[in-house]
Amino acid sequence: MADQQARTGVDKRPTGIPAIRWEEPPEGPVLVLLDQTRLPVEEVELVCTDASALVEAIRSLAVRGAPLLGIAGAYGVALAAARGFDVAEAARALEGARPTAVNLSVGVRRAESAHRAALVRTGEPTAAAVAALAAARALHREDAEASARMAAHGLTLLDELLPAGGHRILTHCNTGSLVSGGEGTAFAVALAAHRAGRLRRLWVDETRPLLQGARLTAYEAARSGMPYTLLTDNAAGSLFAAGEVDAVLIGADRIAADGSVANKVGSYPLAVLARYHHVPFIVVAPVTTVDPGTPDGASIEVEQRPGFEVTEVVAPQVAATGAAGGIPVAPLGTQAYNPAFDVTPPELVTAIVTEEGAVSPVTAESLAGVCARSRRA
Ligand code: MRU
Repeated sequence: MADQQARTGVDKRPTGIPAIRWEEPPEGPVLVLLDQTRLPVEEVELVCTDASALVEAIRSLAVRGAPLLGIAGAYGVALAAARGFDVAEAARALEGARPTAVNLSVGVRRAESAHRAALVRTGEPTAAAVAALAAARALHREDAEASARMAAHGLTLLDELLPAGGHRILTHCNTGSLVSGGEGTAFAVALAAHRAGRLRRLWVDETRPLLQGARLTAYEAARSGMPYTLLTDNAAGSLFAAGEVDAVLIGADRIAADGSVANKVGSYPLAVLARYHHVPFIVVAPVTTVDPGTPDGASIEVEQRPGFEVTEVVAPQVAATGAAGGIPVAPLGTQAYNPAFDVTPPELVTAIVTEEGAVSPVTAESLAGVCARSRRA
């Protein structure tokens, strides 16, 4: 462990750097991001002075994860408005930066409609910019609140489903404070279990090919003092077979109206494994990730990423530039299949935990019920 820390430069000091923040220096407002492509080796900030820089940061995964993409999108609209750019144009570019996480367009549209309404009401671009920023800040705050509520509901569910004693939880990709205004989604539940003294182990899938698990979840788990172990994605099967997994906890990028869940590629095989081994497969996501406009899993657009992420071992900060240039691990010219997400059908999902409570069994009706509850709240 000490060895590993020496190599990566990881230590256990809290970073004190939030994943995203709005600042207003004398030169004009900016959006400051913790550049996630550089973690865990260095904590470097990325300063966006306009929406197109933010679009680039989203495409390169410097800022990523469904809830944070929503928050970033809303701030991006506020930034365009505050800097006097064409807000509608910026909003369309932000929305189109990545296709799968529905939160991105939810956040963009929320800030854009606050901007439009204030413009109609006051005729004042400055007032409209202030309204867009207020909408972004509200979304940021609400996400933090939702995160805390999901953690509480998720821990209650774990305690109901699992026998007393420490929970051994397997997670995939990265779902902690790096993707949220609060402590995240699935990771926040594991953290709540840890704080309650009920987390025996967090199994962290490395998450090929961009290693969000190894680089980001392990970073967050180390900083939180959680007992965690990193494994290659392929090792999960043997871990289930050995009876070492009590529950799987993952986040979601989009949940269709029928309860199909799009999340980081590799989630669906975990759901299949979990069903075979009679282990609960739990999805933790805010209601904003449920998309009533997407009827089923087949209708979810899955982002396809460049093949070099698979055919080469590339440092994420290099991959972020969109250029190849890593160490080849396949013959030159090899074609690669590299979807960023996969879709798990609702019948394999034990429960979806939202800030409004847990939905189980997962059906179109039960999901619609939780969405309606959220609209009333
Ligand atoms: O490609 P990424 O890193 O943006 O993918 C992120 C994930 O798949 C997360 O699991 C998902 O956004 C849920 S985050 C709470």
